[in-house]
Amino acid sequence: MATRGDRAVWPTSTLAELRTALGGPLPLDPIDETAVIDALARAAEPGLVATTGPRYFGFVTGGALPATVAAEWLTATWDQNAGLYVMSPAASIVEEVAGRWLIDLLGLVPGSSVAFVTGCHMANFTALAAARHGLLRRVGWDVEADGLQDAPKLRVIVGDEVHVSVIGALRLLGIGSRQLVRVLADDQGRMRPEALANAIGGSSAPTIVCAQAGNVNTGAFDALEAIADIASRHGAWLHVDGAFGLWAAASDQLKHHVRGIDRADSCATDAHKWLNVPYDSGLVFVAHPAAHRAAMSMNAAYLVRSPDEPREPMDWTPESSRRARGFAVYAALRSLGRSGVADLVERCCRLARRFADRLRTEPAIRILNDVVLNQVLVRVEPVSGDADAATRETVRLVQEERICWLGGTRWHGMDAMRISVSNWSTTEEDVDRSAESIVRATRQRA
Ligand SMILES: Cc1ncc(COP(=O)(O)O)c(C=O)c1O
Repeated sequence: MATRGDRAVWPTSTLAELRTALGGPLPLDPIDETAVIDALARAAEPGLVATTGPRYFGFVTGGALPATVAAEWLTATWDQNAGLYVMSPAASIVEEVAGRWLIDLLGLVPGSSVAFVTGCHMANFTALAAARHGLLRRVGWDVEADGLQDAPKLRVIVGDEVHVSVIGALRLLGIGSRQLVRVLADDQGRMRPEALANAIGGSSAPTIVCAQAGNVNTGAFDALEAIADIASRHGAWLHVDGAFGLWAAASDQLKHHVRGIDRADSCATDAHKWLNVPYDSGLVFVAHPAAHRAAMSMNAAYLVRSPDEPREPMDWTPESSRRARGFAVYAALRSLGRSGVADLVERCCRLARRFADRLRTEPAIRILNDVVLNQVLVRVEPVSGDADAATRETVRLVQEERICWLGGTRWHGMDAMRISVSNWSTTEEDVDRSAESIVRATRQRA
């Protein structure tokens, strides 16, 4: 942890070297545990990416706040099964408390149900399962008992820039990707409300509208208030995928981006992204606890419930036995406080703007997005030649220099590099060093 800011952000060891260092046959007999752990640390370390360090800008990757790392050590040591209250009263109560804090911090519907899952993909799954239950129940169908095959048809409307995990979650729920109604998005990736209004009319089918708070490339937010108006006029369930964008709600400066979130029927986010909790940690909130519980809850005689009727974690998650993820979330929220979360989010956004401002001064670099959050989309456009190839090559050179790490993407038919500033420990100096690395790579390529 102490050296995470100094070491090469991407490791130098090769695939073959790692296979050799970590591989070999399964030992026949026990090996001393300390020797095993020492050897594991030695062999794995050359293959570790400094994702917790201050210059990792790939995907949308949070670091790990010190209190959350310590909470994770406790979680592993305590080894609680957070499935039922009787298995760990402390784990259940910590989820209850942290869940309440989160609803308050993010301005969500008071009394929403909360679940702690592996990530936003599973959070989307859980929320959409609740939506499926709630909508089908309204038309007299019990999907948990009677399944989906003969059920009334559900209609799901998504923006053209929907995150792939929403599609993956719907697939698991029996709704295929070709069955989705896609509505146009604008140049920043925001669902166009007027396109939604056109798409939603003309059918009385139970409908889920999936909106987004924070596009994975641009950071842009769908206009939630306008979308909520349209959804509520048609009795649709509004789900919001806010994997990282939902955290804007914690900041007075940024919460206008998620105006209308308190009208969502469900929303999903990650703690392992912007809250800087170690992997894995996703969160789901449902404004209709009965639908949420009906979609997730299971019973068996041996799964004993406490007579005090506390919150039973497995009533709200797609898993039964699970790690006590609530401890680390609790530690993050308690150590940061309300102002600390706001400061973390605002700082990352400020640093993203600094990145963009520095890169814009380079003639061959174009910033493709409005930097409204923590995401910067960068394209290299040389005076002559192929800009796609130049962008891809620049990404490769930056990755090779190892001062920082960022990845590539495609945006509106163009190659681009993605910068996501999501780490609690990133400083202005880290951004400047990293921007210099990108500029150097751009010039070297030219
Ligand atoms: C908008 C959005 N939704 C969902 C996800 C999936 O999150 P996870 O990989 O934590 O399951 C991501 C991941 O980047 C995302 O950006």
